[in-house]
Amino acid sequence: MTAPPEPKPKPASADTAPIQVCDLKAQYLAIEAEVRAALDRVLARSWFILGEELAAFEEEFAGFLGTPHAVGVASGTDAIHLALRALDIGAGDRVLTAPNSAVPTAAAIVAAGAVPCFADVDPFTGLLDPASVERHLDPGVKAIVPVHLYGRCVPMGAILDLGKRHGIPIVEDAAQAHGATWRGRAAGTMGVIGCFSFYPSKNLGACGDAGACTTADPTLAARLRRLRNYGERDRYLSVEFGINSRLDELQAAVLRVKLPHLAGWNARRREMAAVYRDRLASLPVVITAPTDDGEDVHHLFVARVARRDRLRGELQTRRVMTQVHYPLPIHLHPAYAHLGFGPGSFPVAERRAEQIVSLPLYPEMTAHQQERVIAAVAEALHGEEPPAQTRP
Ligand SMILES: Cc1ncc(COP(=O)(O)O)c(C=O)c1O
Repeated sequence: MTAPPEPKPKPASADTAPIQVCDLKAQYLAIEAEVRAALDRVLARSWFILGEELAAFEEEFAGFLGTPHAVGVASGTDAIHLALRALDIGAGDRVLTAPNSAVPTAAAIVAAGAVPCFADVDPFTGLLDPASVERHLDPGVKAIVPVHLYGRCVPMGAILDLGKRHGIPIVEDAAQAHGATWRGRAAGTMGVIGCFSFYPSKNLGACGDAGACTTADPTLAARLRRLRNYGERDRYLSVEFGINSRLDELQAAVLRVKLPHLAGWNARRREMAAVYRDRLASLPVVITAPTDDGEDVHHLFVARVARRDRLRGELQTRRVMTQVHYPLPIHLHPAYAHLGFGPGSFPVAERRAEQIVSLPLYPEMTAHQQERVIAAVAEALHGEEPPAQTRP
């Protein structure tokens, strides 16, 4: 007797296919011909480092932000590292940032030779709380790195004012905020240097690692160009210690294809965020209220719930994927324990880390997919209590 044939796996339908937090393949397919043409152009030219694609991208990205200079580097981490070095911040200096950022914000400070320190964040937005920044400033702090987390600008008025009063530069971490604005000013153009990541899943993402520094100061721009290229002033003449941190031609060409799409993609993210806000409003979940102080580019859509890990499990069984940005504040990572900030040092950031969950949101997500996420969240949260600190 022959065994009955194995049942063929059914292809996932629109109702059962997993919904990811971000779907890079969907973006690629939407612009495939343009990306391939750009890559072909670079390959045909076979000039791969510090060439015309990078120069053009730097000009186009600076133009998009409305700032005079953009300097392409190898990653967002290097952008922050080199920004600090360009400002002569290093050994013995402390640099204050947000404890709930991605670890690379602090790693870049360490790479520059400085020591990270932190202030607490707003319970509702997760952005640096200027009052806490002021409390944690002392003469050893030589720069502030506000992080425009999840695509929304930190309220920059108070931060810029603190920088001015204490005579210390503001270096913006705009890795998650390409195109976000605060009172009409673009993220990355308010401090003395802005730092961007073009990690593939960012609002503007390369097909690999890439980053940029932006500045209005031509002297700083020139120094950043040197620092990213072994400290060379002229070919084979290093006038200061520098590293290899260049944004290569293939990545620059891809970024040039994507940049003209960015405003539309950001607008689509805002539309989808408005739908989530509206449809999740009656559930035991806290969502940051919209800002009337600028434009949020919703790099991530982050909600807070009482039992986050339970919700994630329930959503996963419904094939709705989630992530947590970020599950452990930087000061509680083993690599940063030596800084001496134990549990309880930044209680708001620590509490948020237990409650936050990032729901799927990317420009190519369909209305049907979003409906599936909303229905799954509603089912999963049925009978749940709202999280602590629910007042927006
Ligand atoms: C807020 C923030 N800062 C810095 C970085 C570092 O960027 P990269 O991964 O390009 O080094 C990232 C991205 O991972 C980020 O999200």
